[in-house]
Order: sequence, then structure tokens, then C-alpha cells
Amino acid sequence: MTEVLQTALTNAVEQTRTNIPAFAQHYPDDCTVRGRYAPRAPRGSFPAGANQGWTTGFVPGCQWLAYEVTGDDEFRVAASAHAADFARRVHDGEDLDTHDLGFLYTLACVAPWRLLGAEADRDAALAAADALMLRFLEPAGIIQAWGALTDPEQRGRTIIDSLMNLPLLTWATDVTGEVRYAAAAARHARRLAAHIVRPDGTTFHTYTWDAVTGEPVCGTTAQGAADDSCWARGQAWGIYGFSLAFDATGDPALLAAARSCAEYFLARLPADGVVFWDLVFSDGDDEPRDASAASIAACGLHELSRHETDPARAARYAAAGQRMTQDAVAYSPAAQGVDSDALQLHSVYSRPAGEGVDEGCLWGDYFYLEALVRHTRPDWRRYW
Ligand code: GLY
Repeated sequence: MTEVLQTALTNAVEQTRTNIPAFAQHYPDDCTVRGRYAPRAPRGSFPAGANQGWTTGFVPGCQWLAYEVTGDDEFRVAASAHAADFARRVHDGEDLDTHDLGFLYTLACVAPWRLLGAEADRDAALAAADALMLRFLEPAGIIQAWGALTDPEQRGRTIIDSLMNLPLLTWATDVTGEVRYAAAAARHARRLAAHIVRPDGTTFHTYTWDAVTGEPVCGTTAQGAADDSCWARGQAWGIYGFSLAFDATGDPALLAAARSCAEYFLARLPADGVVFWDLVFSDGDDEPRDASAASIAACGLHELSRHETDPARAARYAAAGQRMTQDAVAYSPAAQGVDSDALQLHSVYSRPAGEGVDEGCLWGDYFYLEALVRHTRPDWRRYW
């Protein structure tokens, strides 16, 4: 087991090294096309390759992990250049109308702050946390996920992915001493535990609150198979995100939510351990896998095992996370002997939209590498 993971880690780090020059010229697109990343597609006033959208932070995220594994300065130099561009993005107010500021700035700026302690990275991450706080809606007590706060279609709507944006707020309280950031994160997480997790342990992808009264309205999907299905990556975000929220708050309701997400995810694993894109599907279904969901869940199970209060469950989650990381190795280009600049293949961005189906993706690369680091370097400290 250890040798398989060590070899996979070496291969993933070397691909991260190979990608440095191209990803310094332009940010890659969210997903590969036939296994290779093109420059990020132009959008609105942004030219091709610009630092926009929700996935560009995974590029420096991989580079910081590779820097920690190797100590090689070329990773630090490359990732620091990205951190400077993220500082420019937030200080210029570019493309900040999203809850995904947590994904972006935790990896691009909190990670280097934790590793190297540069004030510029701390200031950029705090500016991103302030921008994220503008999306916290009263009286609902949730952070709006998508779009402008005035957009009637998006007003009061959040998504399960948002849980991974909360650590930016928890970190902001840690460095400033101002409790309002962590308090908002805790309220948001509790609202999701109460409504986005269904009684049977499955989850909605998105959930909407009435922005005027703050009352819960309904759950729907955007990327899952149906409103009442269980989108695999959402369930994986739930395992990881509720585990982090429990660690931040000690609230047993958040541990219960993390357990629910984990139990259902594990109950729907196919024989080879890499889930289908929606958990309504399993062995025998002619549907694509989402290897990124497997890697996110493997990280989440590892994190959950560290905070789980029941030793038997903790051991089971730790073992499952390790097994799933090993299973995910089979979905890497190196293991499959195919030409690709992704670290992991066979993920799905959005099956309903026909985007990134059975391709590599930036978040899949990052969480695959994080899972390998977690399971080969027990002393690694998370960026989240
Ligand atoms: N956060 C968007 C996704 O998981 O597709």
C-alpha cells in the first residue's frame, strides 16, 4: 500500500513540476479536453488564460503541496507568483461575486501565509474574507453561493460546496481575533446541517432560504441527476466540510452531519472504490465516474477520522480514506499509461450541462494530491 501511494505521489509531484511553465503563462481551464488543459476560456471582459472563475487557486494549491513534499524552490517561486496575482485580483475587486473566495484564497494565500508568513498573503486572504462576508444574509444566516446579491434567481440560495469556503472565515478570526467571521461560518454550517442534509443521510446540491423571512424554502440540484438524487461530489464536500466545521465549533450536530455524509457515501461505493458522478448510480450503470469526488471524500474521511469521538468509527473512516486513496491511483494518467497533463482523470464537472464529462479537472488534481500527501505524510497540516 505505502509503495503504491509513494509512487503515485512522486508521479503527481513530477507532473505538477512539468506544468509550472505553461501554468505561469496562462491559467488552465477548469477541465481537460481529451486529457489536456487548454488556457482558461475567455469570459466577459476576461481574455483567455485570465485568473477568473472558481478553480484557479488549485494551481498554486498543487504547487504548495509539491513544495512541502520536495522542498524544491521552483515550486515556491511558481506558487508565490500566483499568490501575487491573487492579491491583485482581490485588491482590484475582480470577479469576487461568488462564495468560492474560500476555495480560491485558502489555497492561493492562506497556504503560503501558513508556510512562510508573508504579510501580503495574509492581507490578500483577509480582503477575500471581507468580500465573502458581504454575502452573508440576515435573517437566513447563510452565505449566498452564486451571482449578484440582487439576482432574484440566486438570492438566498446556497450549495453544499460552500462548506469548503468556511475555513477562510475561521482563519480570519484566528488571525484578527474578530469573532464575526467564525460566527458567520458556524451559523451557515448549522443551517446546512439542518436543511441540506436529508434524514436518510443524502444531501441536496443546493438549498434556498427566503431572503426576507429567513425561512427554509426547498432543495434542488444544478449538477446532480435530479433534485432528489445525491450528487456524488456534493456528498464528498459534505464529508470534508462538515468535518472541518465540527473541528472549528465542537458542535455535535456538525459531527452528526459529517457522519451521515460519510456513511451514505461509503454505502454507495462501487467495487473499485471510485464513485459514479451521482450516487443514484453504481456498478452495472452505464454512467461515468467522478474520481474527483473520490479524492475529496478520501481527504474528508481522513479529516473526519481525526475528530471523530467514537474510536471504532474513527478507525473505520481512516481505513476507508486510505483505501479510497489507493483506489483513486488507478484513475491517474501515470497508472493508465496515457498522455495527459492532469494528475487524475475520469471526473465529471457537470453531467447535465455536458461539461467536463470523463475528464481531468483542477480540483480533482488538487484533492488527489492532497489525499496522497495525507496518506504518506502523517504530519502534514491542512491549509483549510
Ligand atoms: N464547486 C463546484 C463543483 O464542485 O463543481
